[in-house]
Amino acid sequence: MEESLDFNTAEFEALLNQSSELVLQQFEGIALKKGFHHKGQSVIEGWFDEPIPNHGMPVDILLKEVDEKIIQTATGNLGANMYGYVMAGGNQVGIIAEKLAATINQNVAKWHLAPAITEIDKRVVQWASEMIGFGKDVGGFLGSSGSSANLDGLTVARNVFFEKYDIRNKGLFGMAPMTVYCSSETHNSVDKSVQLLGIGNNQLRHIAVDNQFKIDLEALEYQIEADISDGCKPFCIIGNAGTVNTGAIDDLKALSTMAKKYGLWLHIDGAYGGLASSLESLKGLYEGIEHADSVALDFHKWLYQPFEVGCLLVKNWSNLKKTYFKQATYLDKSLEVEKGRLEFNEHHFLLSRSAKSLKVWMSIKAYGLTRIKSMIQKDIDLTKYLNNKITDSSDFELVAASDLAISCFRFTNGLKDAAAITALNKQLVPALERDGRVFITSTSLNGTFVLRACFINHRKTKASTDYLLEVIREVGARVV
Ligand SMILES: Cc1ncc(COP(=O)(O)O)c(C=O)c1O
Repeated sequence: MEESLDFNTAEFEALLNQSSELVLQQFEGIALKKGFHHKGQSVIEGWFDEPIPNHGMPVDILLKEVDEKIIQTATGNLGANMYGYVMAGGNQVGIIAEKLAATINQNVAKWHLAPAITEIDKRVVQWASEMIGFGKDVGGFLGSSGSSANLDGLTVARNVFFEKYDIRNKGLFGMAPMTVYCSSETHNSVDKSVQLLGIGNNQLRHIAVDNQFKIDLEALEYQIEADISDGCKPFCIIGNAGTVNTGAIDDLKALSTMAKKYGLWLHIDGAYGGLASSLESLKGLYEGIEHADSVALDFHKWLYQPFEVGCLLVKNWSNLKKTYFKQATYLDKSLEVEKGRLEFNEHHFLLSRSAKSLKVWMSIKAYGLTRIKSMIQKDIDLTKYLNNKITDSSDFELVAASDLAISCFRFTNGLKDAAAITALNKQLVPALERDGRVFITSTSLNGTFVLRACFINHRKTKASTDYLLEVIREVGARVV
């Protein structure tokens, strides 16, 4: 019988060193790292098209294969030339933390399965709350993403708001349609959550936005009143603390007043922009966030964590327990001696869960909040730098600037006709992907097709920003 899957110490050390070499290689010439490696889907599929191996292979050879097929073709999320979606570059302390977290293999399901990590999860929740000014002694949960934090927030909202209807036992049967409100610029994880929660997308009201892409408050109130008259049960407003398209921050103060007036739950999607509220320069824009009932945050965005880690904050732990607690004999803790142990499995749907908080906690301790905040500020300042360059140029046009770090613009190449500009930019996106030097995606604003650059990487510089425009110009000249 084989003893175990382990190597001897010398073998393991050699492999760790070999893998550390691969890590270090990623940081060589990082300033010019490609955004994308265009290999073709069928080629990459072919590399992995093999039967399940019955017999293992030497790991030093396997690491070479990993380097060649996976690391060298990895999309350039680490480097400064990534502008697509909301892709932060991670950080080096996070890399070290992930290795250690995998080594100790803690499971944050129960306190005694992960004593220190459970306490670190709780600490990170409090620090996040402090960062955004949400309050002291709040409850929260570290999940996979902003999407999961929105689902978590709306689940808590539904279960706590309708607790008196015993919704957890009776389900939604026989209830008046429950209505939810958000701006038309809200992230689609909210739509998905509303579907998953059985509320139904027909009950999700996408309210129009103003010319800054912020929710139109008059239209919102009009809709709430109309729904009440129609016999619906309004229960939740979702505010944006930074939309994914343009970084728009809704008037959170007005939303909290409106939620109070109608007795509604206020959930804020701060997955993209929530943590930027820690900047003194922006505090005013987030006024009202402290009155929310729940806030979704994403640490793999503006805390520069490696994927993946998101976070839901609620005003107290009991809201999570009311939402999720389910007795199970094998999880019974009546024989455990200490009362202070917080059991995360009683406060969420998930049971087994990794030590996601270790990388967050270690990064905050290693870099300090001041330095992290200065990186967020740099992202915002570089976006302004880009916007100014665009405005000063004769071959680009700025379509939407935001208070945060997203710029929406078009390459005009001197064209005047709107349809021709749209056609050029539509061709540019795949052409830039094929070129691969920079990675940028697009979106549509009020029906206008635009390029969208998101700055969320502490490795960006003015030079990398200039490079973006340079590459677009060069590739753009070729597609016309
Ligand atoms: C405003 C907003 N909400 C939610 C999400 C979803 O976050 P994740 O990609 O971590 O699921 C995003 C992602 O960009 C976002 O920008």
